[in-house]
Amino acid sequence: MSAISGARTTGPANAKPWILENKGEGRFDVRRAAFTADLVEAEMRGIFDHSWLYVGHESEIPNSGDFVTRTVAGRPLVLVRSSDGMIRVLQNSCSHRGAEVCRERRGNSRLFVCPYHAWTFQNDGQLRGTSFPDGVSKGFDRKRMGLKTPPRTEIYRDLVFVSFDRDIVDLQTYLGRAKDYLDQILDQGESGTEIVEGTHEYSIDANWKLLIENSIDGYHAPSTHQRYFDYLKRNSGSIDRGPQRYSRGMDLGNGHALMTGEATFPRPVALWASMLGDEAQPELDRVMKRLVERFGPDRADRIATHSRNLFIFPNLIINDVQAITVRTFFPIRPDRMSVISWALAPRNEPEGLRKVRLDSYLSFLGPGGFATPDDIELLESCQRGFANREAEWSDLSRGMSDAEPDMLSEEQMRAFWRRWDHMMRDDGAPASTVAGERI
Ligand code: FES
Ligand code: FE
Repeated sequence: MSAISGARTTGPANAKPWILENKGEGRFDVRRAAFTADLVEAEMRGIFDHSWLYVGHESEIPNSGDFVTRTVAGRPLVLVRSSDGMIRVLQNSCSHRGAEVCRERRGNSRLFVCPYHAWTFQNDGQLRGTSFPDGVSKGFDRKRMGLKTPPRTEIYRDLVFVSFDRDIVDLQTYLGRAKDYLDQILDQGESGTEIVEGTHEYSIDANWKLLIENSIDGYHAPSTHQRYFDYLKRNSGSIDRGPQRYSRGMDLGNGHALMTGEATFPRPVALWASMLGDEAQPELDRVMKRLVERFGPDRADRIATHSRNLFIFPNLIINDVQAITVRTFFPIRPDRMSVISWALAPRNEPEGLRKVRLDSYLSFLGPGGFATPDDIELLESCQRGFANREAEWSDLSRGMSDAEPDMLSEEQMRAFWRRWDHMMRDDGAPASTVAGERI
């Protein structure tokens, strides 16, 4: 395929472009080599090292000394509530010779003892002591030997993010227009939100960017997830609201994107269907009344009865559909990614609604649910399909001719790709080579 005339082509002048966009003609193509070339290192340095990255939620470490370990952009980290009550993110690498000082997935401890030579660190990262202290050299400065922290850590409404870029804008500026939609999700909890205990971790034999596309892809739902819609219909779980009056796919700027519209699924906050049981209805009415009191009727209606698939660049998806799923993922190899996901819920949610929420979470987006296995199968299928190198381009032009693209458009994915392309170019990444060929 030759370059589209008048298209905004990207990449250095002597490199082939990753994307071709022509707004006038309504064309948007992504070079499939972006999914198959070994760009992981370039993406880590060009994108993940210059973004805000989700680490975890404050509710996962409610008590002083609580910690969870996470791997974020390849770095092992500890998210901890230190003995002084502060939330901290520590880099899990001993200041002596590098071993991980915390090897548990989660727990509670005042100290982390390195298993290699037994240096001991307080849970705020400071070095407490070394084994066989008589042998330390004169120049050894214990104060300088604490655990490192990522250059930036910020918390927005209990969501903990880090950045490895000291000069990045503050988190709220980074979230930009995505913040209002994030608020619409978090406002569902009058006394805050919490991660429901339990974590799903799995890996997919596909490029990580395919999961971004998939997570904000309304177009695939009727075909890929027909089984789920049938199941809902059979179990009185779908809501016929007539023709959908509001449906949008949006570029929120900074690479963030949103797919939103009137929900056709029951939502524990606060949209009832008979699947939820009669006993849930008065509780949902009460929740709705409080939302109206707190936010007024319009915003309350949007919070309660609209679904949102919110993508925060580069790798955080919050699906607020029948339940709220928080999902993040990282590339391992060009054709493999690791995924971790949790259910988010309002704090102090009544037991019945919590049960409905977890049932919905597991039956749709859980690893054994109606959606995730089918999505994974298709992402892996795309990755296998890319072996046909002769088919060089994927088409993501749907909705480009619409003034207000809807949920079935691909505007959301274009938002991601524009930002990805921009950041990769800033890093000079297109100088990567595939089989000796400059791409
Ligand atoms: Fe941790 Fe030596 S590497 S004490
Ligand atoms: Fe899906």
